[in-house]
Amino acid sequence: KKYNVAIVGVTGAVGEKLLRLLENAAIEINELHVLASARSKGKKVLFRGEELTVAETTESAFAGIDIAFFSAGGAITKKFHRAARNAGAIVIDNTSAFRMDAETPLVVPEVNPEALRNHTRLIANPNCSTIQMVAALKPIEAAFGLSRVIVSTYQAVSGAGLHALEELENQTKAVLAGEEPIATILPSGGDKKHYPIAFNAIPQIDLFSEDGYTFEEWKMMNETKKIMGRPDLKIAATCVRIPVMSGHSESLYLEIEQEDVTADAIRKVLSQAPGIVLQDDPSTQTYPMVTTAVNQKETYVGRVRRDVDNPKGFHMWVVSDNLTKGAAWNSIQIAEKMIEMGLV
Ligand code: A2P
Repeated sequence: KKYNVAIVGVTGAVGEKLLRLLENAAIEINELHVLASARSKGKKVLFRGEELTVAETTESAFAGIDIAFFSAGGAITKKFHRAARNAGAIVIDNTSAFRMDAETPLVVPEVNPEALRNHTRLIANPNCSTIQMVAALKPIEAAFGLSRVIVSTYQAVSGAGLHALEELENQTKAVLAGEEPIATILPSGGDKKHYPIAFNAIPQIDLFSEDGYTFEEWKMMNETKKIMGRPDLKIAATCVRIPVMSGHSESLYLEIEQEDVTADAIRKVLSQAPGIVLQDDPSTQTYPMVTTAVNQKETYVGRVRRDVDNPKGFHMWVVSDNLTKGAAWNSIQIAEKMIEMGLV
């Protein structure tokens, strides 16, 4: 079967990635509709060498669409998901709008594909930092059990959108030219103060909740429990923005349930896990880095070692492209999986 596909937010960082990855995806595309705000109406984007014209996102834009990828912010998803679903489309949403909604499956295809069966034409794509973490955690949990996770992230600027990327570029040039960098977006467009990200590390992603954690940190904690079906899992996150364009890195500390497990045993499980590439050899300085993970679909894991004090504790370093596996590629994998399972 051939599908009519729409991308809402096609002019954004994730939208552009969706365009490029759909060119070679296993989804047979009949028509591709490219949508954004009224500001972008008439702009051209390239798909398989052909020019497509961007249209405004309206309720009637979803007529005849089978699969709609949404990546234009939570407010746009909330405004248009009904119209798209009523038109018969399956909505695959990259925003946080419905991730914790009890009726909406939150899916990483390597981890919880079965959750797709209960869909109501709306599937949520998890937060970028959550996706790469659960991709690494799932095979470890399946083999050895998992009781606790402590994660610190080193997150790229592209997760905050194209305007944030421009800001990083301009600030970097300004600082190198001896000028004051201008900050108007990061750490969070919705907060009162803005700090330059160039030559900086900012321990705030999204707004703060009253308990001192940020919403990005709560997303990682809550989404992980939902995706893994583990409301009991102990998990705490610290999310930090660093001046990298694309590619999130994470330092994971995890505690397994089984005793006498070696780092080698964990490496073996990871090396056989779907979507994971093990890069772990200190003797050759082999470990995951943003510069090798960027533009790739896989999640890279290395630096696996046992905790010095807790024999059931392990540390590792997990890197993936936040716009690829962290957003566009996971969304496309969800669509491919639904086609494979006969759900579209
Ligand atoms: P536009 O370029 O027309 O503003 P990013 O996360 O990289 O900043 O991208 C955000 C995406 O969301 C862009 O494609 C942007 O389109 C889109 N968008 C923003 N506001 C709206 C809106 N009101 N309706 C539809 N799309 C929107």
